[in-house]
Amino acid sequence: MKRLLLGLVATALAVALPLPAYAGGKTPDDLRELSQKLKVYMGSAVDVTALAGEADYRKVLNREFTHVTAENAMKWESVEPQRGVYTWDGADAVVKNAQRNRQNVRGHTLVWHNQLPAWLTAGVADGSIDAKALRKILREHIMTEVGRYRGKIRAWDVVNEIVDDDGNRRQSIWLTNLGPDYIADAFRWAHQADPHAKLYLNDYNLEWNTAKINTTLNIIKDLKAKRVPINGIGFQGHLGIQYDYPGDFPNVMRQFTDLGLEAAITEADVRMVLPVTPEKLATQADYYQRMLSTCVDNGHCVEFTVWGYTDRHSWVPGWFDGEGSACVMDENLAPKPAYKALLSVRRK
Ligand code: G3I
Repeated sequence: MKRLLLGLVATALAVALPLPAYAGGKTPDDLRELSQKLKVYMGSAVDVTALAGEADYRKVLNREFTHVTAENAMKWESVEPQRGVYTWDGADAVVKNAQRNRQNVRGHTLVWHNQLPAWLTAGVADGSIDAKALRKILREHIMTEVGRYRGKIRAWDVVNEIVDDDGNRRQSIWLTNLGPDYIADAFRWAHQADPHAKLYLNDYNLEWNTAKINTTLNIIKDLKAKRVPINGIGFQGHLGIQYDYPGDFPNVMRQFTDLGLEAAITEADVRMVLPVTPEKLATQADYYQRMLSTCVDNGHCVEFTVWGYTDRHSWVPGWFDGEGSACVMDENLAPKPAYKALLSVRRK
Protein backbone atom coordinates (compact mmCIF):
# COMPACT_ATOMS: atom_id res chain seq x y z
CA MET A 1 0.00 0.00 0.00
CA LYS A 2 2.82 2.36 1.00
CA ARG A 3 4.61 1.62 -2.28
CA LEU A 4 1.40 2.29 -4.17
CA LEU A 5 1.00 5.65 -2.42
CA LEU A 6 4.60 6.62 -3.13
CA GLY A 7 4.07 5.63 -6.74
CA LEU A 8 0.98 7.82 -6.94
CA VAL A 9 2.81 10.78 -5.45
CA ALA A 10 5.68 10.30 -7.91
CA THR A 11 3.25 10.18 -10.83
CA ALA A 12 1.45 13.29 -9.63
CA LEU A 13 4.77 15.12 -9.41
CA ALA A 14 5.69 13.95 -12.86
CA VAL A 15 2.49 15.45 -14.26
CA ALA A 16 2.64 18.95 -12.81
CA LEU A 17 6.07 20.48 -12.46
CA PRO A 18 6.05 22.68 -9.36
CA LEU A 19 6.89 26.35 -9.65
CA PRO A 20 9.94 27.19 -7.52
CA ALA A 21 9.56 29.86 -4.86
CA TYR A 22 10.32 33.34 -6.12
CA ALA A 23 12.51 35.58 -4.03
CA GLY A 24 13.07 38.85 -5.89
CA GLY A 25 10.87 41.97 -5.85
CA LYS A 26 12.11 43.42 -9.15
CA THR A 27 10.31 43.26 -12.47
CA PRO A 28 10.87 39.81 -13.95
CA ASP A 29 13.23 39.57 -16.92
CA ASP A 30 11.04 37.17 -18.86
CA LEU A 31 7.79 35.23 -18.73
CA ARG A 32 9.39 32.20 -17.11
CA GLU A 33 10.48 34.35 -14.19
CA LEU A 34 7.03 35.99 -14.14
CA SER A 35 5.48 32.54 -13.99
CA GLN A 36 7.48 31.75 -10.86
CA LYS A 37 6.63 35.07 -9.30
CA LEU A 38 2.88 34.85 -9.99
CA LYS A 39 2.63 31.11 -9.41
CA VAL A 40 0.69 30.86 -12.67
CA TYR A 41 1.96 28.76 -15.56
CA MET A 42 2.77 30.95 -18.56
CA GLY A 43 2.09 29.01 -21.74
CA SER A 44 2.13 29.21 -25.51
CA ALA A 45 0.59 27.25 -28.34
CA VAL A 46 3.28 25.51 -30.36
CA ASP A 47 3.54 25.35 -34.14
CA VAL A 48 5.26 22.01 -34.72
CA THR A 49 6.72 22.98 -38.10
CA ALA A 50 8.38 26.01 -36.56
CA LEU A 51 9.48 23.95 -33.56
CA ALA A 52 11.29 21.57 -35.87
CA GLY A 53 12.65 24.08 -38.35
CA GLU A 54 13.28 27.43 -36.67
CA ALA A 55 16.03 27.59 -34.07
CA ASP A 56 15.15 31.13 -32.94
CA TYR A 57 11.48 30.19 -32.48
CA ARG A 58 12.47 27.16 -30.41
CA LYS A 59 14.95 29.11 -28.31
CA VAL A 60 12.47 31.83 -27.32
CA LEU A 61 9.68 29.28 -26.70
CA ASN A 62 11.87 27.33 -24.33
CA ARG A 63 13.29 30.37 -22.60
CA GLU A 64 9.95 32.09 -21.96
CA PHE A 65 7.31 29.47 -21.26
CA THR A 66 6.51 27.02 -18.48
CA HIS A 67 3.51 25.45 -20.26
CA VAL A 68 2.78 24.49 -23.87
CA THR A 69 -0.18 23.40 -26.00
CA ALA A 70 0.14 21.84 -29.45
CA GLU A 71 -1.70 24.27 -31.73
CA ASN A 72 -2.87 21.53 -34.10
CA ALA A 73 -0.74 18.42 -33.59
CA MET A 74 -2.92 16.65 -31.00
CA LYS A 75 -6.20 17.19 -32.82
CA TRP A 76 -7.97 14.12 -34.14
CA GLU A 77 -7.29 14.80 -37.86
CA SER A 78 -3.57 15.10 -37.01
CA VAL A 79 -3.21 11.95 -34.93
CA GLU A 80 -5.48 9.57 -36.86
CA PRO A 81 -5.70 10.82 -40.46
CA GLN A 82 -6.77 7.37 -41.67
CA ARG A 83 -8.87 5.02 -39.60
CA GLY A 84 -6.58 3.03 -37.32
CA VAL A 85 -3.43 4.70 -38.71
CA TYR A 86 -1.90 6.92 -36.06
CA THR A 87 0.67 9.66 -36.69
CA TRP A 88 2.12 10.84 -33.41
CA ASP A 89 5.24 12.62 -34.70
CA GLY A 90 4.07 16.18 -34.17
CA ALA A 91 2.44 15.51 -30.81
CA ASP A 92 5.43 13.52 -29.58
CA ALA A 93 7.78 16.34 -30.62
CA VAL A 94 5.84 18.86 -28.53
CA VAL A 95 5.80 16.59 -25.48
CA LYS A 96 9.48 15.66 -25.75
CA ASN A 97 10.56 19.27 -26.19
CA ALA A 98 8.44 20.24 -23.18
CA GLN A 99 10.00 17.55 -21.01
CA ARG A 100 13.50 18.68 -21.98
CA ASN A 101 12.65 22.27 -21.09
CA ARG A 102 10.69 21.90 -17.84
CA GLN A 103 7.36 22.78 -19.42
CA ASN A 104 3.97 21.32 -18.55
CA VAL A 105 1.67 20.33 -21.38
CA ARG A 106 -2.01 21.00 -22.10
CA GLY A 107 -3.54 18.34 -24.33
CA HIS A 108 -5.74 19.93 -27.00
CA THR A 109 -8.30 18.60 -27.77
CA LEU A 110 -10.23 15.33 -27.53
CA VAL A 111 -13.84 16.07 -28.52
CA TRP A 112 -14.45 18.90 -30.97
CA HIS A 113 -16.62 19.52 -34.02
CA ASN A 114 -13.66 20.85 -36.07
CA GLN A 115 -10.54 19.24 -37.47
CA LEU A 116 -12.05 15.79 -37.41
CA PRO A 117 -10.55 13.27 -39.83
CA ALA A 118 -12.36 12.98 -43.16
CA TRP A 119 -12.91 9.23 -42.73
CA LEU A 120 -14.93 9.94 -39.58
CA THR A 121 -17.15 12.74 -40.88
CA ALA A 122 -17.69 10.93 -44.19
CA GLY A 123 -18.52 7.68 -42.41
CA VAL A 124 -21.13 9.39 -40.24
CA ALA A 125 -22.58 11.23 -43.23
CA ASP A 126 -22.98 8.13 -45.40
CA GLY A 127 -24.30 6.00 -42.54
CA SER A 128 -21.44 3.49 -42.56
CA ILE A 129 -20.65 4.64 -39.00
CA ASP A 130 -23.84 4.42 -36.95
CA ALA A 131 -24.39 5.82 -33.44
CA LYS A 132 -23.22 2.66 -31.69
CA ALA A 133 -20.02 2.53 -33.77
CA LEU A 134 -19.43 6.25 -33.28
CA ARG A 135 -19.54 5.94 -29.49
CA LYS A 136 -17.06 3.08 -29.66
CA ILE A 137 -14.77 5.10 -31.94
CA LEU A 138 -14.88 8.09 -29.58
CA ARG A 139 -14.01 5.90 -26.60
CA GLU A 140 -11.16 4.32 -28.51
CA HIS A 141 -9.82 7.73 -29.57
CA ILE A 142 -9.83 9.09 -26.03
CA MET A 143 -8.36 5.96 -24.45
CA THR A 144 -5.63 5.77 -27.11
CA GLU A 145 -4.53 9.41 -27.08
CA VAL A 146 -4.84 10.08 -23.36
CA GLY A 147 -3.31 6.69 -22.63
CA ARG A 148 -0.31 7.37 -24.86
CA TYR A 149 0.57 10.52 -22.89
CA ARG A 150 -0.49 9.27 -19.47
CA GLY A 151 1.57 11.06 -16.80
CA LYS A 152 2.92 13.59 -19.33
CA ILE A 153 -0.02 15.94 -19.73
CA ARG A 154 -0.98 18.29 -16.89
CA ALA A 155 -4.41 19.12 -18.29
CA TRP A 156 -6.61 17.96 -21.18
CA ASP A 157 -9.19 19.99 -23.07
CA VAL A 158 -11.63 17.07 -23.03
CA VAL A 159 -14.50 18.88 -24.71
CA ASN A 160 -14.04 22.00 -26.80
CA GLU A 161 -16.68 24.58 -27.83
CA ILE A 162 -19.74 22.50 -26.96
CA VAL A 163 -22.08 25.49 -26.60
CA ASP A 164 -22.89 27.85 -29.47
CA ASP A 165 -23.13 31.64 -29.29
CA ASP A 166 -26.91 31.52 -28.82
CA GLY A 167 -26.46 29.50 -25.66
CA ASN A 168 -27.64 26.20 -27.16
CA ARG A 169 -25.75 22.96 -26.94
CA ARG A 170 -23.76 22.93 -30.17
CA GLN A 171 -25.16 20.80 -32.96
CA SER A 172 -22.34 18.46 -33.85
CA ILE A 173 -21.94 14.86 -34.91
CA TRP A 174 -21.55 14.12 -31.19
CA LEU A 175 -24.77 15.70 -29.96
CA THR A 176 -26.79 14.58 -32.97
CA ASN A 177 -25.74 10.95 -32.84
CA LEU A 178 -24.90 10.30 -29.20
CA GLY A 179 -27.12 12.77 -27.34
CA PRO A 180 -25.90 15.05 -24.52
CA ASP A 181 -24.34 12.19 -22.54
CA TYR A 182 -21.31 12.16 -24.83
CA ILE A 183 -19.86 14.87 -22.57
CA ALA A 184 -19.99 12.81 -19.36
CA ASP A 185 -18.73 9.77 -21.25
CA ALA A 186 -15.74 11.70 -22.61
CA PHE A 187 -14.70 12.93 -19.15
CA ARG A 188 -15.09 9.46 -17.63
CA TRP A 189 -13.03 7.82 -20.36
CA ALA A 190 -10.29 10.47 -20.13
CA HIS A 191 -10.14 9.98 -16.36
CA GLN A 192 -9.88 6.24 -16.81
CA ALA A 193 -6.98 6.69 -19.24
CA ASP A 194 -5.06 9.15 -17.03
CA PRO A 195 -6.42 9.56 -13.51
CA HIS A 196 -3.99 12.39 -12.66
CA ALA A 197 -4.61 14.72 -15.60
CA LYS A 198 -6.84 17.73 -14.94
CA LEU A 199 -9.85 17.49 -17.21
CA TYR A 200 -11.24 20.68 -18.76
CA LEU A 201 -14.18 22.05 -20.64
CA ASN A 202 -12.75 24.72 -22.99
CA ASP A 203 -14.59 27.43 -24.93
CA TYR A 204 -14.36 30.86 -26.59
CA ASN A 205 -16.51 33.93 -25.89
CA LEU A 206 -17.16 32.65 -22.39
CA GLU A 207 -15.52 35.86 -21.17
CA TRP A 208 -18.62 37.93 -21.97
CA ASN A 209 -21.44 36.05 -23.68
CA THR A 210 -24.16 35.61 -21.07
CA ALA A 211 -26.21 33.02 -22.93
CA LYS A 212 -23.16 30.85 -23.40
CA ILE A 213 -22.04 31.32 -19.79
CA ASN A 214 -25.36 30.23 -18.30
CA THR A 215 -25.68 27.12 -20.42
CA THR A 216 -22.07 26.15 -19.69
CA LEU A 217 -22.51 26.69 -15.94
CA ASN A 218 -25.59 24.46 -16.03
CA ILE A 219 -23.78 21.73 -17.94
CA ILE A 220 -20.99 21.78 -15.36
CA LYS A 221 -23.40 21.71 -12.40
CA ASP A 222 -25.13 18.74 -13.97
CA LEU A 223 -21.81 16.92 -14.52
CA LYS A 224 -20.75 17.58 -10.94
CA ALA A 225 -24.10 16.36 -9.61
CA LYS A 226 -23.47 13.13 -11.47
CA ARG A 227 -19.92 12.93 -10.06
CA VAL A 228 -18.35 13.19 -13.51
CA PRO A 229 -14.63 13.92 -13.18
CA ILE A 230 -14.39 17.50 -14.49
CA ASN A 231 -11.65 19.65 -12.93
CA GLY A 232 -11.28 22.80 -14.95
CA ILE A 233 -12.74 25.53 -17.12
CA GLY A 234 -10.72 26.93 -20.02
CA PHE A 235 -11.40 30.45 -21.26
CA GLN A 236 -9.86 30.67 -24.71
CA GLY A 237 -9.48 34.46 -24.52
CA HIS A 238 -9.51 35.38 -28.22
CA LEU A 239 -10.08 39.14 -28.03
CA GLY A 240 -9.88 42.04 -30.50
CA ILE A 241 -9.27 45.69 -29.66
CA GLN A 242 -12.04 46.80 -32.04
CA TYR A 243 -14.44 45.36 -29.45
CA ASP A 244 -14.76 46.56 -25.87
CA TYR A 245 -12.77 44.70 -23.26
CA PRO A 246 -15.02 42.15 -21.48
CA GLY A 247 -15.02 44.01 -18.16
CA ASP A 248 -17.18 41.40 -16.46
CA PHE A 249 -14.60 38.67 -17.00
CA PRO A 250 -13.42 38.54 -13.34
CA ASN A 251 -17.01 37.92 -12.18
CA VAL A 252 -17.56 35.33 -14.87
CA MET A 253 -14.41 33.45 -13.93
CA ARG A 254 -15.49 33.58 -10.27
CA GLN A 255 -18.85 31.98 -11.12
CA PHE A 256 -16.98 29.01 -12.55
CA THR A 257 -14.31 28.67 -9.87
CA ASP A 258 -17.06 28.92 -7.22
CA LEU A 259 -18.22 25.56 -8.56
CA GLY A 260 -14.93 24.11 -7.36
CA LEU A 261 -13.13 24.16 -10.71
CA GLU A 262 -9.65 25.40 -11.46
CA ALA A 263 -9.48 27.88 -14.32
CA ALA A 264 -7.07 28.60 -17.14
CA ILE A 265 -6.88 31.14 -19.91
CA THR A 266 -5.98 28.75 -22.67
CA GLU A 267 -5.68 30.57 -26.01
CA ALA A 268 -5.15 34.27 -25.32
CA ASP A 269 -4.57 36.63 -28.19
CA VAL A 270 -5.68 40.18 -28.95
CA ARG A 271 -6.07 40.99 -32.62
CA MET A 272 -6.46 44.37 -34.30
CA VAL A 273 -7.51 45.82 -37.63
CA LEU A 274 -4.31 46.58 -39.55
CA PRO A 275 -2.29 48.73 -39.91
CA VAL A 276 -0.58 48.64 -36.54
CA THR A 277 -0.25 51.96 -34.69
CA PRO A 278 1.36 52.77 -31.32
CA GLU A 279 -2.10 53.52 -29.92
CA LYS A 280 -3.44 50.14 -31.00
CA LEU A 281 -0.45 48.39 -29.48
CA ALA A 282 -1.05 50.24 -26.21
CA THR A 283 -4.70 49.12 -26.15
CA GLN A 284 -3.63 45.59 -26.96
CA ALA A 285 -1.13 45.69 -24.07
CA ASP A 286 -3.90 46.81 -21.73
CA TYR A 287 -6.17 43.92 -22.82
CA TYR A 288 -3.41 41.34 -22.31
CA GLN A 289 -2.56 42.78 -18.91
CA ARG A 290 -6.18 42.74 -17.77
CA MET A 291 -6.64 39.14 -18.89
CA LEU A 292 -3.58 37.97 -16.98
CA SER A 293 -4.62 40.02 -13.92
CA THR A 294 -8.05 38.39 -14.01
CA CYS A 295 -6.35 35.01 -13.85
CA VAL A 296 -3.91 35.99 -11.10
CA ASP A 297 -6.49 37.78 -8.93
CA ASN A 298 -8.95 34.89 -9.08
CA GLY A 299 -6.73 32.62 -7.01
CA HIS A 300 -7.92 29.41 -8.69
CA CYS A 301 -6.65 30.25 -12.17
CA VAL A 302 -3.44 28.33 -12.69
CA GLU A 303 -2.42 28.91 -16.32
CA PHE A 304 -2.25 31.75 -18.82
CA THR A 305 -1.48 30.47 -22.32
CA VAL A 306 -1.14 32.61 -25.45
CA TRP A 307 -2.30 31.17 -28.77
CA GLY A 308 1.10 31.55 -30.37
CA TYR A 309 3.65 33.97 -28.98
CA THR A 310 4.84 35.52 -32.25
CA ASP A 311 3.07 37.23 -35.15
CA ARG A 312 5.27 35.09 -37.39
CA HIS A 313 2.99 32.15 -36.59
CA SER A 314 -0.51 33.26 -35.75
CA TRP A 315 -3.86 31.89 -36.93
CA VAL A 316 -5.37 35.41 -37.01
CA PRO A 317 -4.41 36.80 -40.47
CA GLY A 318 -5.61 33.59 -42.14
CA TRP A 319 -9.01 33.78 -40.45
CA PHE A 320 -9.88 37.48 -40.17
CA ASP A 321 -9.43 39.54 -43.32
CA GLY A 322 -7.38 42.68 -42.68
CA GLU A 323 -6.61 41.78 -39.05
CA GLY A 324 -3.41 40.63 -37.39
CA SER A 325 -0.62 41.56 -34.98
CA ALA A 326 -2.38 39.57 -32.25
CA CYS A 327 0.62 38.19 -30.37
CA VAL A 328 2.99 39.52 -27.70
CA MET A 329 6.06 39.39 -29.99
CA ASP A 330 6.39 40.56 -33.58
CA GLU A 331 7.54 38.52 -36.62
CA ASN A 332 11.18 38.98 -35.59
CA LEU A 333 10.45 37.75 -32.06
CA ALA A 334 10.93 41.26 -30.65
CA PRO A 335 8.75 41.95 -27.60
CA LYS A 336 5.77 44.25 -28.17
CA PRO A 337 4.27 46.54 -25.49
CA ALA A 338 1.93 43.67 -24.57
CA TYR A 339 4.87 41.52 -23.52
CA LYS A 340 6.13 44.24 -21.19
CA ALA A 341 2.62 44.79 -19.84
CA LEU A 342 2.43 41.10 -18.87
CA LEU A 343 5.74 41.37 -17.01
CA SER A 344 4.32 44.18 -14.90
CA VAL A 345 1.40 42.12 -13.52
CA ARG A 346 1.57 41.52 -9.76
CA ARG A 347 -0.33 39.44 -7.26
CA LYS A 348 -2.53 41.72 -5.13
O1 G3I B 1 -2.37 20.86 -42.62
C1 G3I B 1 -2.79 21.63 -43.76
C2 G3I B 1 -1.71 21.71 -44.77
O2 G3I B 1 -1.44 20.42 -45.26
C3 G3I B 1 -2.13 22.66 -45.89
O3 G3I B 1 -1.10 22.84 -46.78
C4 G3I B 1 -2.53 24.03 -45.32
C5 G3I B 1 -3.07 24.98 -46.38
O4 G3I B 1 -4.01 25.88 -45.84
O5 G3I B 1 -3.55 23.83 -44.38
C6 G3I B 1 -3.15 23.02 -43.29
O6 G3I B 1 -4.17 22.92 -42.37
C7 G3I B 1 -4.42 24.08 -41.60
C8 G3I B 1 -4.28 23.73 -40.13
O7 G3I B 1 -4.61 24.83 -39.35
C9 G3I B 1 -2.87 23.26 -39.77
O8 G3I B 1 -1.97 24.30 -39.99
C10 G3I B 1 -5.81 24.56 -41.88
O9 G3I B 1 -5.89 25.03 -43.22
C11 G3I B 1 -6.20 25.65 -40.94
O10 G3I B 1 -7.58 25.95 -41.10
C12 G3I B 1 -5.94 25.21 -39.50
O11 G3I B 1 -6.28 26.29 -38.65
C13 G3I B 1 -6.27 26.02 -37.25
C14 G3I B 1 -7.67 26.18 -36.70
O12 G3I B 1 -7.64 26.00 -35.29
C15 G3I B 1 -8.62 25.18 -37.33
O13 G3I B 1 -9.78 25.01 -36.64
C16 G3I B 1 -5.34 27.04 -36.60
O14 G3I B 1 -4.00 26.79 -37.04
C17 G3I B 1 -5.44 26.93 -35.07
O15 G3I B 1 -4.75 28.00 -34.50
C18 G3I B 1 -6.90 27.00 -34.66
O16 G3I B 1 -6.95 26.84 -33.26
C19 G3I B 1 -8.24 26.95 -32.65
C20 G3I B 1 -8.22 26.06 -31.40
O17 G3I B 1 -7.84 24.78 -31.74
C21 G3I B 1 -9.59 26.07 -30.72
N1 G3I B 1 -10.03 27.42 -30.43
C22 G3I B 1 -9.99 28.36 -31.56
C23 G3I B 1 -8.60 28.37 -32.19
C24 G3I B 1 -8.52 29.40 -33.27
O18 G3I B 1 -9.38 29.08 -34.33
